[in-house]
Amino acid sequence: MGSAFVVTTSSGFEGNGRREILKLLPSSKVRKLFFKGNLYVECGLPEEEAVELLREADTTYLGRVFPVDAELKISAAKASIEALYEAVSIGDLEEGDTFRVSCTRRGSHEFRSRDVEVTVGMRLEEETDAVVDLKSPSKTVIVQIFQDLAYVGVSPSVNLLVKEIKRFRKYAKGERPFTRAEFKIREALKAFDVEVTNDFIVLDVGAAPGGWTKVLAGMARRVVAVDPADLHPSVEEMSNVTHLRCRAEDLPEDIGEFDLITNDMNISPTESAEIMNALAERLREGGAAIMTVKFVTRERRRHTREAIGILEEAYTDFRVKRLPHNRYETSVYMRKKS
Ligand SMILES: C[S@@+](CC[C@H](N)C(=O)[O-])C[C@H]1O[C@@H](n2cnc3c(N)ncnc32)[C@H](O)[C@@H]1O
Repeated sequence: MGSAFVVTTSSGFEGNGRREILKLLPSSKVRKLFFKGNLYVECGLPEEEAVELLREADTTYLGRVFPVDAELKISAAKASIEALYEAVSIGDLEEGDTFRVSCTRRGSHEFRSRDVEVTVGMRLEEETDAVVDLKSPSKTVIVQIFQDLAYVGVSPSVNLLVKEIKRFRKYAKGERPFTRAEFKIREALKAFDVEVTNDFIVLDVGAAPGGWTKVLAGMARRVVAVDPADLHPSVEEMSNVTHLRCRAEDLPEDIGEFDLITNDMNISPTESAEIMNALAERLREGGAAIMTVKFVTRERRRHTREAIGILEEAYTDFRVKRLPHNRYETSVYMRKKS
């Protein structure tokens, strides 16, 4: 039995993504969807086999892989949520299964992704013997919306892949200001041994132009990027990035809980530490945070000491590292105090 997938690619490199898939799954049919950076793949192999081949391969252009099993036309109206529910193969959710509905919506509709997740999740819980588990569900109900075209599927959560896109669109000279920042967050995650998994929701404050956000969005389920300044278009258009164009001090109340907070704001270390303390209530129990301490004078040790002195109110397990890519700053890792 064959399988089908929605696969995200580096935007502008859909052709390369397609070739990568055809090399791994030669029997498949791959077509571009009309929203940039998205491919639809029909493959002759069973889902498990195709997923394993994609998982194991060292790829450059492929991002996320979502197994799907139904395609339907929808409208922009709220009533489409019912049609999406109807398209779910409810026989795939059995007693003993836990599940989460994960919706990515592209285009403009009279409903949000979250409305789909909540409504379809509740209906499925009523109609099947499976129960909702938002943290580590054994199965995921996938809803991928491209304006009036939607794909729906139910799969073991391990079959949803998040691969690292290693090559992004080429930019004109001088238009890639965040390359260094990308190194910085990669180094910090490695140095502090922080594993960002594909169910993570990350809050990235001081996010513009978006180097950290881009790297984190390649690993996590969703990144909320906070900065009054613009994100680079290639980051702004990532489907799992939400840009809140405000200061970290002015975040709306209802943005939920986060698994990781990252902070690269270019403000004084003490000010930054105060903001981190206020944000701690939005971090899940035991969740980690990474903050850059910017050296505003030559007294580096004092800045770090003062920042940690403030942070101790809300955090614990501090680790401090000077990373090769940030000589004029220090990175601090911490965990929320219980
Ligand atoms: C060094 S840049 C961040 C670079 C970013 N990490 C990246 O990877 O592209 C610092 C950012 O902090 C932002 N910033 C400064 N104060 C802020 C505040 N109070 N709230 C949110 N962002 C702030 C600035 O607008 C600026 O874009």
